[in-house]
Amino acid sequence: MKTIRIDASRSYDVVIGPGLLAEAGKRIAALKGPARAMVVSDDRVFPLYGETLMDSLRAAGLTPAQFVFPQGEQEKTLATYGRLLETLCRLRFTRSDLILALGGGVVGDLAGFAAATYQRGISFVQLPTTLLAAVDASVGGKTAVDLAGGKNQAGAFYQPWLVLCDTDCLGTLTEEAYRCGCAEIIKYAMIGSPALFEELARTPVRERYADVIAACVAMKRDFVQADEYDTGARMLLNFGHSFGHAAEACSDYTLPHGLAVAMGMAAMTRSAAAAGFCPAETPEALLALLRSYGLPTELPYPAEALAEAARADKKAAGDSLRLVVPEAVGRCRIETVPAGELLGWLKRGGAA
Ligand code: GLY
Repeated sequence: MKTIRIDASRSYDVVIGPGLLAEAGKRIAALKGPARAMVVSDDRVFPLYGETLMDSLRAAGLTPAQFVFPQGEQEKTLATYGRLLETLCRLRFTRSDLILALGGGVVGDLAGFAAATYQRGISFVQLPTTLLAAVDASVGGKTAVDLAGGKNQAGAFYQPWLVLCDTDCLGTLTEEAYRCGCAEIIKYAMIGSPALFEELARTPVRERYADVIAACVAMKRDFVQADEYDTGARMLLNFGHSFGHAAEACSDYTLPHGLAVAMGMAAMTRSAAAAGFCPAETPEALLALLRSYGLPTELPYPAEALAEAARADKKAAGDSLRLVVPEAVGRCRIETVPAGELLGWLKRGGAA
C-alpha cells in the first residue's frame, strides 16, 4: 500500500493499492465515526463495486445510502447536481454525515461540488475507479459541473477528506478508459518528468499501476501544495487541455476527455516546435509515445471552430489565454497568448 499526504487548505491521505474498497468502511469510520454515507456513483460503476463498498460501510457501523445516475459527461449537469442535493435534503443528511464519490472523473467532480455546497460543505471521500480519476481528477480539490456554455463552468475548490484508490478496480477498465488514463499520465511526464516519460515507453502502465499512479499523485501534490487555487504553477497541469477542451466542446462532449487531451498535447507540441519553443525531437518523441498507447494525435475539427471554443474556455483570461507550451520532454512553460493568435497556434499544430 502506498500513502501520499497532501497538505493543502485541508490535509489528507491518498492511499493507493489493492483491496481498498473492502476496507473503506474501516478507514472512513476512523475519520467520521458512525455517520451516514451517501454513495454517489454511475450506472456502470455501481453494479460492479457498489455492494462491496456498501457492505464494508455497514460492517464498520456507517449507514449507507446511494445516488446512482447514468454514466457519461452529458450527465455532469446542474440537473443531476440539483437532484443529488434534493436527495440529501429529503433524507435529512447533515454536516455530521458524508458523501462518497465512487467512480471516474464525472462522478468525483459532481459529488465533490455537491459536497462543497450542500449545507455550505460536508465531508467527502473520493474512491476513484478509473485510471484518469486516480492520477488526476480525484486529487487536488477541483469540483464542478458543466453548463450549456462550457465544461466545468460552475464549481468550487474543495479538497476531499481522504482518497482511496483501489487498484483492483482498474481490472474492469475498458480499453478506451485505459487509454484515457494513459493520456493524463503522459501529460505528467511531459510537464515534469523525463524519467517517467522513458519508463512509460519501456513498460506499459498496466504492468505497474500502483507505481505510476503514486508517481503522478506525488507530482500533483507538489503542484497543489504550491498553488492550490490554480493561479500559477498548477496551470501546467492543463498541458493539452486548452485545445483538448475545445475538441470536447466541438464534439458536443461525446469525445472522451483523455483522447481529447492526447490530441491537444500533440497539436500544442507540434505548434511549439514550429514556433521554436522546443526542438523537433520533442513532438517526435511525444507522438511516438501517444501512438504506442493507441492514442490519437490529430484534432479532427476545423481550426476556426476550435479557436472559438478555446476562447470560451475558463482558461481564457479577458482577451488572452494562458497556454502550456513544451520546451522539451519533461519541461513546459506558461505562455500568455492574445486570443487573436489562437488560430495561428492551432493551424501550426495541424488543425485544418
Ligand atoms: N486537472 C488539473 C488540476 O487539477 O489542476
